[in-house]
Amino acid sequence: MNDKDRRIVIGSDHAAFQMKEKIKSFLEEQGLTVEDVGPGSESSVDYPDFGKRVAAAVSSGEFSRGILMCGTGLGMSMVANRFPHVRAALCGDLFAARMSREHNDANILVMGGRVIGDVLAMAVVKTWLETPFEGGRHSLRLEKFDTIHPAS
Ligand code: RB5
Repeated sequence: MNDKDRRIVIGSDHAAFQMKEKIKSFLEEQGLTVEDVGPGSESSVDYPDFGKRVAAAVSSGEFSRGILMCGTGLGMSMVANRFPHVRAALCGDLFAARMSREHNDANILVMGGRVIGDVLAMAVVKTWLETPFEGGRHSLRLEKFDTIHPAS
């Protein structure tokens, strides 16, 4: 993990607020620097408002890695993947976490706070952070993302 990867931008909605707090503490215990874009409580919020903050920070290159959580992880995935250069991966198990890095070079990890438990979520985060991108043929496939223009 390079120095830039040691700074993580993180956000959630109300449904995953408790998980966000636990993941934040877990990351800080690992010596990582965490930028929390909110929310600051369990009061109801709209997930796009927080998803876009994390996605924009990764899309712009300010952060190389981000973590997003909502109830299912679905809404946050949909929001994040609208941003250029964002490859957000919804992961609910260790295999998905590893493959999202090895093959897809995922730069945002998404989890569902109402789907997986805290212990598995922390293991998913650890695997996702520690697994490098394999490159090679997978780089060529990722390069094709930028050549896809649905309207043409
Ligand atoms: C909030 O109730 C819920 O819709 C949200 O957390 C998320 O699961 C959306 O995809």
